Amino acid sequence: MSPRVTDSVSSAVAVLRQGGLVGLPTETVYGLAGDAFRPMTVARIFAAKNRPEFDPLIVHLATSAELRRVARDVPEAAQKLADRFWPGPLTLVLPRQSEVPDLVTSGLDTVAVRVPDHPLAQLVLRESGLCLAAPSANPFGGLSPTTAEHVERGLGDRVDLILDGGPCRVGVESTIIHIDADNRATLLRPGGLPLEAIEAVIGPVDTPTTNSDDDRPMAPGMLLRHYAPSHSLRLVEDWPPLAERGELGCLAYGEVPTGFGSLVSLPADDDLTAAAARFFPALHQLDESTVTGIVARRFPEHGLGRALNDRLTRAAAKEPACA
Ligand code: TXA
Ligand code: MG
Repeated sequence: MSPRVTDSVSSAVAVLRQGGLVGLPTETVYGLAGDAFRPMTVARIFAAKNRPEFDPLIVHLATSAELRRVARDVPEAAQKLADRFWPGPLTLVLPRQSEVPDLVTSGLDTVAVRVPDHPLAQLVLRESGLCLAAPSANPFGGLSPTTAEHVERGLGDRVDLILDGGPCRVGVESTIIHIDADNRATLLRPGGLPLEAIEAVIGPVDTPTTNSDDDRPMAPGMLLRHYAPSHSLRLVEDWPPLAERGELGCLAYGEVPTGFGSLVSLPADDDLTAAAARFFPALHQLDESTVTGIVARRFPEHGLGRALNDRLTRAAAKEPACA
């Protein structure tokens, strides 16, 4: 392992206090974290990822008691969700405080915020006292990192320090919900908290990403092509004929089809929690194998399957929808 990888929380806190960037483990994926209130640091985050500036960042807090540092208003439905699911894989998009640097929110009047549920992320947030802006710690458009090694391989010396917190428990990014002043909730990104759990607390949530007939991103960063491996990924209804399988990598779910050059079969369970935890590691593994392409089938569209299908569809898309 490189000297950039550590398990020392105090080293991570020291780097962050100086305005540096830390690969931070969360329960969803690793984040590329920096002090949200230092515009120079935030600019470095965008540069390290090669991320377009129209794609705003999520701000991470130690507890929901700190919400007012970044949000000027907390609608009742948002408070209910925060009380029920934080710390956890839920991001709320709320009216922003004017002190939050424009670069963090890409000039929007809203800010995305969450309280991560990982012991090391919690320690870093509490000990530093900082609000941490953190996108996923991968080059823009690529596969999300769920281990310290993924971060090291993807970003190298563009990150000052990587805090190794082991493999991420949830494995897909947080669910993003926008709450407006009338408490209307809209799903901007399916993720690690199932929609069913959210609706059980606040009632029906609009899901324009699944209903829309155009490719306009709901969250500014939800480009059609995203989360992509370097090999081409094809979504199929049925597995290709045996004769074609030898050169292909296969991402399967609850079955073990034969004949593929490389295969990862994700375990099936009721709400796809186990499959989600191994989804990005599986794609990283297939991507590193000597195959000419990867094939996958859609997951059941419930529980975390909704988030996995979203990531698969974007990974399989040929062209960016914009930018
Ligand atoms: O689980 C996660 O959410 C991880 C960990 C590190 O916390 N972070 C993550 O960040 O996935 P990122 O930057 O890869 O994705 C953030 C998404 C982007 O699609 C961005 O457009 C959207 O959040 N977003 C951020 N601020 C927003 C806002 N004010 N309004 C709408 N969408 C926003
Ligand atoms: Mg990302």
